[in-house]
Amino acid sequence: MVETAPSPFTPGYGKKPAIFGGHGEDLSELRAVFETLDFGENHSVLVSGLRGVGKTSFLTTLQDAAREAGWLVISDDASAGLMSRVMDSTIPTLINEMTPETRARLTKLGIWNISADIEYVDRHRVVKPQLRTDLVALSSAMGADGGILITVDEVSAGKVRLRELSKFALQVSHALEDGAQIMVVFAGVKVSLDALLAEEHTTFLRRSRELEFERLSAPETRRVFVETAGIGGRAIDEEALDKLVSLAQGYPYLVQLAGDYAWRNNSIAPCITLVDATVAHDRAIRAIESRVISRVYGDLSDVDQKFLNAMAEDEDRSKVADIVNRMNVSDAYVQVYKKRLIDSGYVQPAGHGYVQFSLPYLGAYIRRQLAAEARDGGNEGGWGAYPAPDLPA
Ligand SMILES: Nc1ncnc2c1ncn2[C@@H]1O[C@H](COP(=O)(O)OP(=O)(O)OP(=O)(O)O)[C@@H](O)[C@H]1O
Ligand SMILES: [Mg+2]
Repeated sequence: MVETAPSPFTPGYGKKPAIFGGHGEDLSELRAVFETLDFGENHSVLVSGLRGVGKTSFLTTLQDAAREAGWLVISDDASAGLMSRVMDSTIPTLINEMTPETRARLTKLGIWNISADIEYVDRHRVVKPQLRTDLVALSSAMGADGGILITVDEVSAGKVRLRELSKFALQVSHALEDGAQIMVVFAGVKVSLDALLAEEHTTFLRRSRELEFERLSAPETRRVFVETAGIGGRAIDEEALDKLVSLAQGYPYLVQLAGDYAWRNNSIAPCITLVDATVAHDRAIRAIESRVISRVYGDLSDVDQKFLNAMAEDEDRSKVADIVNRMNVSDAYVQVYKKRLIDSGYVQPAGHGYVQFSLPYLGAYIRRQLAAEARDGGNEGGWGAYPAPDLPA
């Protein structure tokens, strides 16, 4: 039997890392709110950033801290049915888990029928139950013991979703006006959050604390590698560490992926060596493309993709004027897309009139895709010669 030691690295969407790098100040400020209930400007928080940059992990870390401080936690994502999931399932579950004292206080508020000894929660019949009233009641039953943390992940810019989300936000904002002790956190890519802010009823979100997630700093990236390996009882040789840090480029998903591959190469040795890091390098690059970069690229609209394709013709930074020529559109048009892509974190300004990819590997990925398409004729498998016939009406 081959002996192995389990890897402490956590590659995968939504997997909370063993060591959470970066965002130290924001986390401690928000944690302080859980202890003191002194919200300052932290009643609402918007977390934005590219795929795999650590938004969901940040939300999970916040939720754990809130629970530890005795808060109620409502966490969900912005998919269809949010309001009814929260009102019909999450809130009754929270009530079931409350201490008897809190439940007793809640019973007096008269919104729910709460049985003292068996796990059962039912609503008194009211014309139309509202999230606002639920939240206010929950908050006053908690009293000075804690508040309510609401996290909504995966905010996306679809029209129907946004309308539902803005209704949800309206209820939360009314509850806040009524004095409920709530911190609400929305997470998604920047364009989606901007679209949410543009909806009716979400004006209160314009006063939110905005956290724009970018890659981790180099020192933080080193710390995450060293301390994560340390949790598993191993050290990392200096040269191996340098190699892993350059490979990951501070991008959280890549840190976990590279660390995991290096770990697994020889998991029972006391140290991760340059050999392990080199093996990780080759395997991780391939996995990065299929698991991360292709999804990041696939999230974009056609025009956004065309913009990035035009950029990919350059090895390093691109001149905006060249992009205008390559796309064969007006300068104003290109400026609009440039701004969007910068806002969403795909692209960054690189000197006056220049842009470059902010995500390492994205340019190389696109160049490879375009070369492959050119090679096998758009990869349509020869079907261009056999169009499907029209079906009879
Ligand atoms: N601060 C961090 N330090 C170290 N590793 C992290 C950090 N944040 C996230 N990770 C790791 O990065 C990966 C992606 O994290 P996560 O799923 O939270 O990203 P995300 O921004 O929510 O992605 P998506 O936009 O696809 O939902 C996971 O493997 C996670 O363990
Ligand atoms: Mg996520």
